[in-house]
Amino acid sequence: MEAAFHKVVGILNVSKMIPRACFLAWLLTLCMTHSPVSSQEDGNFRLVPYGISLSRLEVYHSGSWGPVCAENWALRESVVLCTQMGFRFVGNWDRADVGRVTPAKLGNVQCHGDESSILDCKHGPLGENRNCSDGLVTVYCTETVGGTVSLKDGESFSEGRVEVRLQFRNKTFYYTICDEGWDLADADRVCRGRVYTYDSALEAVRGSYFGEHAVGESGLDGKFDGFLTSSVQCNASYYSVLDCPNSGWFTRSCPSGKTAGVKCKEFSDQYQVNLTLVDGTSRYNGFVKVAINSVPSGSICDSNRYWSLREGDVVCRSLGFGYALNVSVVKSSLEPRINNVHCNGNEMSLSQCLRGGLCPQRGELAPTVNCSGPLKAGYHPIELRPSQIRFRGAEGLLRILRNGRWGTVCNASWTLENARVVCRQLGYSSVIRHWYSFHGYGPIHLSNVKCAGTEPRLDQCQHDSWGVHDGCSHAMDVAVECGSITLTVNFTLIAVLASMAKFVSHQ
Ligand SMILES: *[C@@H]1O[C@H](CO)[C@@H](O)[C@H](O)[C@H]1NC(C)=O
Ligand SMILES: *[C@@H]1O[C@H](CO)[C@@H](O)[C@H](O)[C@H]1NC(C)=O
Ligand SMILES: *[C@@H]1O[C@H](CO)[C@@H](O)[C@H](O)[C@H]1NC(C)=O
Ligand SMILES: *[C@@H]1O[C@H](CO)[C@@H](O)[C@H](O)[C@H]1NC(C)=O
Ligand SMILES: *[C@@H]1O[C@H](CO)[C@@H](O)[C@H](O)[C@H]1NC(C)=O
Ligand SMILES: *[C@@H]1O[C@H](CO)[C@@H](O)[C@H](O)[C@H]1NC(C)=O
Ligand SMILES: *[C@@H]1O[C@H](CO)[C@@H](O)[C@H](O)[C@H]1NC(C)=O
Ligand SMILES: *[C@@H]1O[C@H](CO)[C@@H](O)[C@H](O)[C@H]1NC(C)=O
Repeated sequence: MEAAFHKVVGILNVSKMIPRACFLAWLLTLCMTHSPVSSQEDGNFRLVPYGISLSRLEVYHSGSWGPVCAENWALRESVVLCTQMGFRFVGNWDRADVGRVTPAKLGNVQCHGDESSILDCKHGPLGENRNCSDGLVTVYCTETVGGTVSLKDGESFSEGRVEVRLQFRNKTFYYTICDEGWDLADADRVCRGRVYTYDSALEAVRGSYFGEHAVGESGLDGKFDGFLTSSVQCNASYYSVLDCPNSGWFTRSCPSGKTAGVKCKEFSDQYQVNLTLVDGTSRYNGFVKVAINSVPSGSICDSNRYWSLREGDVVCRSLGFGYALNVSVVKSSLEPRINNVHCNGNEMSLSQCLRGGLCPQRGELAPTVNCSGPLKAGYHPIELRPSQIRFRGAEGLLRILRNGRWGTVCNASWTLENARVVCRQLGYSSVIRHWYSFHGYGPIHLSNVKCAGTEPRLDQCQHDSWGVHDGCSHAMDVAVECGSITLTVNFTLIAVLASMAKFVSHQ
């Protein structure tokens, strides 16, 4: 059976060398009418062209070929099949709705992904003669992995844990890579080809340094599906990390705490950025005017609507003006010059946020920022980061600024008293709620915060040393919602009192 199987694979491999139209015709005649006698053994599989690019999967049993039912069939099953058939990966799969024509001989296949054959996966009885309610398995196997590699949870866009996104039909599958044997050659392939970075990595980072993908956090049509592979063996011959040989797809053997990450060299390392704020009401606010190397100075044009507090924070930090109180995009007479300034929020200089590109045309809108002004030594402002990131809100992830970088607070020992201090420091009178499991990013600055409740600022409460956060992860970040702006109400009261006083004194 083994030998017979290899013959089928052999045929499929030869087929890759001839043009596709010819291949389809050839396979049709060969497979459908003259299937090699030797491949007709129970448990052998073949792919029969079906539609434009897909092939219908068939399995041999008791003297004939029959299709496979598609229930539970998804990415992992497709990958096992394609590798079994001698291909590198899966291009697509679907459910063909012809189930009632020919009874299927196999169904309910459920693979982990690293099996060497479909029959090594959990499956229904081979040879069962049944109708498929979910259609039949069709697949399209490929020699390339059509995924997108991105970096998550780094301090800037040029670093982070390696995350691979695969899109099939309507669904996105998210994967990470296990750090077994993860080295600079592998990291290089991640950094290479990233549009805004240079070709090489600074460091191959191991041990989930940039965190792990939170299970169940991939969004509406996405699914986090674990480690794509435990190790890759890259060298300069491969274009992307996905092209490198690996130790097999979908490893079961990688424990947590071993997600691979990278730090790439930055595109901006060569760029000299001159930054000023113009047309403001003080030197700490106004339009952002930039000059980069030989590009004459002008405004940022923000074609892709990146401008938010993240970019504002970096402008203020670059200038030594603290952090951004608010940002906006308004009419300006400045010449638009630099496009695609996009920050993570914790970069030390705006040059790290340059994504490349000049402004497409004359525009009249330009970004502004209102900076806090230089911060007193030892002063650590806090913010609640809402989903709308052009404003700091009364609710959201709690972050505190230290050495120019925003970081989160771990919920270890967190109490309502602590939340009270947070709300008071931000000018609110009450805590509506406080919770955790809000997935933050960047450094975890504080842990074990214990406020008595009378402190005017969070950093004055008792806490572990800055940056020490034993046993914490971003799944334990504190979030707070505050209520009723004390100041507004009291201003109103003061105004009423003042006019009453005036009225009384006139009597
Ligand atoms: C499959 O469907 C056909 C047509 O609907 C029916 O005649 C047959 O009995 C079904 N077979 C099984 C095993 O359910
Ligand atoms: C894609 O999603 C749409 C709407 O959510 C749904 O109607 C359609 O059946 C989906 N297509 C596939 C191939 O899953
Ligand atoms: C990369 O590895 C492949 C497979 O091991 C090998 O054939 C190739 O020569 C290597 N390329 C370089 C540049 O080392
Ligand atoms: C940056 O500013 C300095 C001082 O104002 C000036 O001498 C220099 O030419 C500027 N560089 C660019 C690229 O505009
Ligand atoms: C900040 O917000 C105030 C009030 O909402 C607004 O008037 C001002 O223009 C904003 N400043 C900047 C630089 O965005
Ligand atoms: C800057 O922010 C402060 C505090 O929110 C506000 O009072 C001030 O009006 C803002 N200035 C500008 C120019 O936006
Ligand atoms: C911190 O958050 C985790 C889950 O994210 C939770 O299990 C734990 O109980 C929380 N600890 C405290 C002290 O609230
Ligand atoms: C006004 O401010 C005082 C002192 O900060 C506070 O105790 C009081 O609750 C505020 N008044 C209202 C109506 O919120």
